[in-house]
Amino acid sequence: MTLKCFLCYLKARFLSFVSFTFFFLHSHTFLLPHSHILRSFILFSTMSLSHADPEVISRLTDAFTLPTSAYDALVDQFIKELNQGLAHKGQMPMIPTFVYELPTGEETGEVLSLDLGGTNLRVCKTTLFGKGQFEIIHKKWAISDALKKGPGKDLFAWIADRIEEFLAHQCGHNDKEKIYPLGMTFSFPCEQLDINVGKLLFWTKGFRGNDILGQDVVKILQDCIDAKKLNVMVNSLINDTVGTLLATTYKHPGCEIGIIFGTGTNCAYLEEQSQITKIKSDASNSTALTDQQLINTEWGSFGNKSGILPINEYDVHLDAKSSQPGKQLYEKMVSGLYISELARIVFHDLALNGKLFVEESGHFKSSEELGDLALKERFDGAMMGALEGDESAQLDVIENHFLSSYNLKTSLSDRETIKYICQLISTRAARLSAVGIAALIKKRQMLTKPNQTIVGIDGSLFNKYPNFRPHIEGALNEIFDTATVKAKIALISAEDGSGVGGAIAAHLTCKQKGLPV
Ligand code: BGC
Repeated sequence: MTLKCFLCYLKARFLSFVSFTFFFLHSHTFLLPHSHILRSFILFSTMSLSHADPEVISRLTDAFTLPTSAYDALVDQFIKELNQGLAHKGQMPMIPTFVYELPTGEETGEVLSLDLGGTNLRVCKTTLFGKGQFEIIHKKWAISDALKKGPGKDLFAWIADRIEEFLAHQCGHNDKEKIYPLGMTFSFPCEQLDINVGKLLFWTKGFRGNDILGQDVVKILQDCIDAKKLNVMVNSLINDTVGTLLATTYKHPGCEIGIIFGTGTNCAYLEEQSQITKIKSDASNSTALTDQQLINTEWGSFGNKSGILPINEYDVHLDAKSSQPGKQLYEKMVSGLYISELARIVFHDLALNGKLFVEESGHFKSSEELGDLALKERFDGAMMGALEGDESAQLDVIENHFLSSYNLKTSLSDRETIKYICQLISTRAARLSAVGIAALIKKRQMLTKPNQTIVGIDGSLFNKYPNFRPHIEGALNEIFDTATVKAKIALISAEDGSGVGGAIAAHLTCKQKGLPV
């Protein structure tokens, strides 16, 4: 080993030690305030990088570590962009939602909802029992690539077919007398003109049906439903973050923030009408029923223009190859669709440079030889979580996955590097997620209020990805302080925010309009 290599090795070991100790300390202070130092040693020793190339580890650690010192500036800029979005169009969208009131938890009735997310479509029937209790049945279909990338009109016609299928099984075709109100949870940015009118602003998460950009998605769906003569009336349109907030409030009164960390990311929260200064006094919104309104922030666009996000060469590559370069930069560092793609880009780059999957003969793999691993989005978030969660001594899950999915043999060094890459990218995502949460809490001065700040969160990354939640909690402890976080902030896993939230929105709309549920 040359002196240069040896120094690199020392630096990598040091950085790995520091980063893991650091992540661990902060992610477990809620639970283990006294034993964290000892545990950080244990964690570090279980995440062995002893076979990995120290130079590679050092370079990636530099590229993907978000230092604590970056938080203050990021949180301040986040608050600035939230405020700008309330004042002017064309900044962070900060979309007024026409949802002016929160459920009490005592709502009752049976309501349909539709949940069009980034990966699946679900049609749901929710029975609200009151006292925060509900029961939901749903049917789920994966949205094919052809539907995501094809014309929007075809996507909506397909959705109406699925509603028909659901009604036939769950509601019986015969009840023609009844008109079913349906809450549409649509997880893409729409400019709302009323609770049941929303113009699609742009697609995210790889959808491309540009034929319907600028059109009212409720009308498109209702037309497709009417063409099939189904007795369903789409009475409300909400974002999945609004759904998450409504569903959490139904069970936990007092919740004022709803967030999704899933395929995409976004946040909705309760804002004072007086703060939404971009709404002119003569606009229809001025007929607001209360002095508050939910705002769909569309925070995925944070940092698009300010240059504040710590973007590295891999982020630049991902953005350039995405369907909307220059947009949703925060989402591209935080959410499931993109973090797995980032990991794939890093694997691919390392392989081409002879740092991963090198054959015994010394031959570096070419792009063609990497098979599906060379193709966009052929490594998904669920798999990334499974690899990161591989605790076996020889990292067997990683070995089997690369062999069965890409026909690639891995050495132990490869597997340690792969696991480390997943950890680096997901940890940065969680720490950036905490920045958004902290910005909202600070902006609304929630910690000065006597009651706890309840944040409802849904999405596969938050609910299923190993250590995503503890890393968010750890970062919040750094941004605020552990005692405050413990006493004042409750992160609550929403129970089916999109499905139940859609049903609650439909219910509240019926109530407002004096219609039966
Ligand atoms: C969309 C949001 C949505 C979020 C989570 C983002 O890509 O722009 O509207 O709430 O994904 O599903």
